[in-house]
Amino acid sequence: MKSLYFEKYGRSDVLSFRKLPKPTLEAGRVLVKVHAASVNPLDWRLMRADPFLIRMGRGLFKPTANGLGADFSGVVESKAADVAKWEPGDAVFGIMTPEIVGSFAEFVSIPEDALVNKPAALSHQQATTLGVAALTAYEGIHDYYQLKPGSRVMINGASGGIGTFAVQMAKAFGAHVTAVCSGGNHELVRGLGADAMIDYKAVDLLQIGERFDLIFDVVGNHSPKKMKRLLHNNGRLVLASAASGLGFLRAIAISRKKQEPIDLILDLKKDRRRLEAVLALFEEGKIKPVIDREYPFDDIVSAIDYVATKRARGKVVVYITQG
Ligand SMILES: NC(=O)c1ccc[n+]([C@@H]2O[C@H](COP(=O)([O-])OP(=O)(O)OC[C@H]3O[C@@H](n4cnc5c(N)ncnc54)[C@H](OP(=O)(O)O)[C@@H]3O)[C@@H](O)[C@H]2O)c1
Repeated sequence: MKSLYFEKYGRSDVLSFRKLPKPTLEAGRVLVKVHAASVNPLDWRLMRADPFLIRMGRGLFKPTANGLGADFSGVVESKAADVAKWEPGDAVFGIMTPEIVGSFAEFVSIPEDALVNKPAALSHQQATTLGVAALTAYEGIHDYYQLKPGSRVMINGASGGIGTFAVQMAKAFGAHVTAVCSGGNHELVRGLGADAMIDYKAVDLLQIGERFDLIFDVVGNHSPKKMKRLLHNNGRLVLASAASGLGFLRAIAISRKKQEPIDLILDLKKDRRRLEAVLALFEEGKIKPVIDREYPFDDIVSAIDYVATKRARGKVVVYITQG
């Protein structure tokens, strides 16, 4: 099968296509033919080993895993004998587990619990966007603070892959949303329901004189200590940016007084429940994917380079195989 491959860290010229054998089916796993996969910052971060900490988990001098791609949408090709939940032909989407990142390939072998039914109303290109980005948005908006109608939420990085979902989710939970992005993206984000816009190029975010119940920061360009000053007393600051340290792995929640315990262990069942909650929000018409650009598999390097500019407006998607 055709697969994107890299064997040393660096810029995108380290990427090439390889013909690899189809993954083998171990117990509890399903083989999925990938139709579309979205590009996440995780892909260029793993490719470049940025931040350096990535080398601690994935190889100090060269990557120990050679694939990229963290979410996918496709069709079940076959399954291990002990899998009862899925049948060949089922349309599914999901996220890769951290040890087997690699959905930029024609097939993936995936634990049955990591899959969710793809609704017919969503194309494969749309469904793959509900993977890492929407799941992270849901975690940031839902898991650390119980929003009520009128709760004040700020989203820093509102126009990107995570932010465009986070704005819609916070609105779905009844919050008043202040969205931070550059002026050129205000129309897009206002269209997703944001109530107030801040252009970080024109205004110093730390001096706005407002307080929030929940700040979801996916940019990480201000120190958490300073961002905490923008919280109400019982508010939460949730960081999901690599610039904030460990945030590229999982969201970290901080209150004004203490740091919450960090849930660093990726829990497949928990993430599957999050994916189902994301799907329910889509089916209730409360969120919709925002796709900035779509690329053919042959041009995936351009897609990864584009996301690495940090200027994507919503999600970037790659067609892997045709139905
Ligand atoms: N913790 C996790 O589980 C997890 C999961 C996925 C991703 N992440 C991390 O979260 C971060 C964001 O991911 P993403 O998928 O949303 O990235 P993305 O799609 O690449 O974000 C691009 C957006 O960031 C905005 N942006 C750039 N600089 C900004 C600034 N100074 N202030 C406000 N907005 C700014 C840009 O808007 P403008 O052009 O308007 O500036 C652009 O629309 C990445 O660092 C990623 O590694 C964490």
